[in-house]
Amino acid sequence: MSKMLPIAAALLFFYAAVALLGAAGSQAAVVEHTFVVKQVYMRHLCNDTLATVVNGQFPGPPVEATEGDTVIVHLVNESPFEITIHWHGVKQRLTCWADGAGMVTQCPIQPNSTFTYRFKVDGQVGTLWWHSHVSILRATLHGIIIIRPKSGSYPFKNQPHMDVPIIISEWWQRDLMKVDRNFSNGGDFSDNPAGATINGKLGDQYNCSGVVEDNFVLNVEHGKTYLLRLVNGALFSEYYFKVAGHKFTVVGADANYITPYTTDVVAIAPGETFDVLMVADAPPCRYYMATVANQPPLPDPQIPVFVSRGIVQYTDIPRADADRCRDQPPQMPEMPNQHDTMTTFYFHGNLSGLPTHPLLPQLRGRVDEHLFITLGKGTICREDKPSCKRGGSNEAIEVAYMNNVSFRLPEKMSLLEARQYGGNDMAVQELPTRPPSVFNFTDPALIPVGPGKPLEKLEATRKATTVRRFKHNATVEVVFQSTATMQSDSNPMHLHGHDFFVLAQGHGNYDPAKHVRTYNLVDPLLKNTVQVPRIGWAVVRFVADNPGAWFMHCHFEFHIAMGMATVFEVANGATPEDTLPPPPSDLPKCIHKKE
Ligand code: C2O
Repeated sequence: MSKMLPIAAALLFFYAAVALLGAAGSQAAVVEHTFVVKQVYMRHLCNDTLATVVNGQFPGPPVEATEGDTVIVHLVNESPFEITIHWHGVKQRLTCWADGAGMVTQCPIQPNSTFTYRFKVDGQVGTLWWHSHVSILRATLHGIIIIRPKSGSYPFKNQPHMDVPIIISEWWQRDLMKVDRNFSNGGDFSDNPAGATINGKLGDQYNCSGVVEDNFVLNVEHGKTYLLRLVNGALFSEYYFKVAGHKFTVVGADANYITPYTTDVVAIAPGETFDVLMVADAPPCRYYMATVANQPPLPDPQIPVFVSRGIVQYTDIPRADADRCRDQPPQMPEMPNQHDTMTTFYFHGNLSGLPTHPLLPQLRGRVDEHLFITLGKGTICREDKPSCKRGGSNEAIEVAYMNNVSFRLPEKMSLLEARQYGGNDMAVQELPTRPPSVFNFTDPALIPVGPGKPLEKLEATRKATTVRRFKHNATVEVVFQSTATMQSDSNPMHLHGHDFFVLAQGHGNYDPAKHVRTYNLVDPLLKNTVQVPRIGWAVVRFVADNPGAWFMHCHFEFHIAMGMATVFEVANGATPEDTLPPPPSDLPKCIHKKE
């Protein structure tokens, strides 16, 4: 990808420009792709690993469009797995059927079957991404979505010379389907990735039997500005990202412009994207770009440290310096500690959006629905037994929850089909408005678990398919409260089909008496994923104006697979322009597997 993309990007840009000129600059274009999902062997760290990828590439092919374009992707499933592709962050206005959330908006695409996704990218500019949304295969089934402005120029003074996709991810050498099954069985702490990647490359900190892994290399020219399009496609971790000797100006987040923010470090949680300008203004030589995963300190369960690095290399190094630059290692940025969870708190807290968003006035008015959602871990009894020994036994399984309910996907039909046609036989429950009981959610004493630890202190969790229904155009406020139950992770919470405004965040327990007055209703950040701080909380508000059934979940794979999810259902409005049309005729049918 590293070598190919600038060329592909240049070509695409050229074709797009030609197409636009041909249409007298007025017509929106159609961006059409065929994605063939297949298993291929990829060799890293002395191992040939069978990876499920699109068109033989990891990361997969970029989707590049201009605001207003229609995107058509023909998905051909030549893998042995059930697949859906989710267009993460694309608002899918009236196209919920194309959202690609398995068993939420569609039944999966079976092996040897096809489905065509059709949707518009409108009202958003910047970087998004696509990934599979049936189980864990998104580890290698993902790619970037680039949406460029219709006007051809950006609202910041430094127009970028070049786009540089930077997809941070992980390389797995495990049977991912097995890892997924382990998650629904309480998780296996030895299930970890083999390393972190930048654009599919592990980087030269990894070698096996003397074979050093490739770096992603970005060639730059002194004085030029580069638009780094950062995506965190990892299953497991939030990452810090730095480039030695260079500063960033963050100009976009989740395909929304923000108030430009200057920093030398970006913190990016799974599901988030950031658009970052980097001016190549350092002494022309070679510099490492590096990522490091962060995690809470002990007594939280620990995973290995994941790092990756690439190289920023000036192509116009003065002759006098050329030998020195080639012979000495590139300069390495000083990275935050893996247990530093404050840098991300400040990074996210320092960002603000634009004060001009048309939804802001409504947002400042009446709030129709208030939800308080705790995010944590609990236990259920094996085989749906009503009672069992919860602590220090094998009778209970660890699960993740929202308000003490652990989400279970339906099996017979998708929730969107049930919404459209009625699904009376589906056991769907309402997501509670608040947790069943109030305790000190962020008490560090809740963290350590293990044999003999009093899991009984936690309430028994239940498993259910939950939804929350909103009337059309309702203003919804959600307070997300991270808990310290069995672990004290942050929670990157992602909502499909809508962006939400992030009004506030803090540490400890949310308290309306103290915190409502800290809400930013002037220029809040507009995101599709909010990083809810560890042992802390975040508040979002959005207008439920897009009819459909929208998945809402934590973007840490172990959290979603263990049940930290629910579905927000938004009602149709009064007019056809506010009503979800019927599904496309090739929408996959559900195959009922025999028990
Ligand atoms: Cu990238 Cu349901 O999410």
